[in-house]
Amino acid sequence: MILHEINFNEELTLSKVCDTIRAEIEKEPDFLPRSSEPEVGPFLFQFIQLIQAKTVLEIGTFKGYTTCKLIESGVKVTSVDIKDQRHSLVKELQKFVKNFEFFEQDSLDYLRKCRDSLRRFDLIYIDGDHDLDHVKKELLLLSNVVPSTGIMVFHDATSANCPGVIQALMEYREQYRTDFVVLPTSRGCGLAIL
Ligand SMILES: C[S@@+](CC[C@H](N)C(=O)[O-])C[C@H]1O[C@@H](n2cnc3c(N)ncnc32)[C@H](O)[C@@H]1O
Repeated sequence: MILHEINFNEELTLSKVCDTIRAEIEKEPDFLPRSSEPEVGPFLFQFIQLIQAKTVLEIGTFKGYTTCKLIESGVKVTSVDIKDQRHSLVKELQKFVKNFEFFEQDSLDYLRKCRDSLRRFDLIYIDGDHDLDHVKKELLLLSNVVPSTGIMVFHDATSANCPGVIQALMEYREQYRTDFVVLPTSRGCGLAIL
């Protein structure tokens, strides 16, 4: 689906556009194995209100399923994913949504740039590369990019096929004397919040 197929002449709210896009992505065959569970976006949406986040970063955009729910919250949303042709929709969305930006970049490169430019995000949702070494590097950079009042949410904390996520979080907890909680999700992937 492309955004041009949506009739913007109708009285469309941002939430209606986002709902339409999410419904279209749900019909695609790679939705189930690749996108975060449908409840994750609404959960993050509520979290944004709860902590009164003004800025949100998403790592691992994929087709923009969770991104759309974040955008709907109305806060400034930044999403990052490595170069891939699947991002045509989010690239288009950027032109329509003032508070949204998308970067086609490796997450570590993007986070280094944020660290060096002192850019900070109140809420960061991480669902990118789940390899242990990558998540460990990500965690170190993230700690410079999230303020002390900020929150990080990791997807796949309980996924059997992504053991690197929980392993990296446990090593980080041990080393930096911090803690996290894990919440179950409908497909068993789990969310870790720290
Ligand atoms: C499981 S999908 C994310 C699904 C997304 N959260 C959703 O709800 O649709 C993982 C995404 O991470 C991206 N990714 C993998 N390695 C990455 C990296 N090093 N930097 C940024 N994104 C990466 C992949 O291209 C893929 O689109």
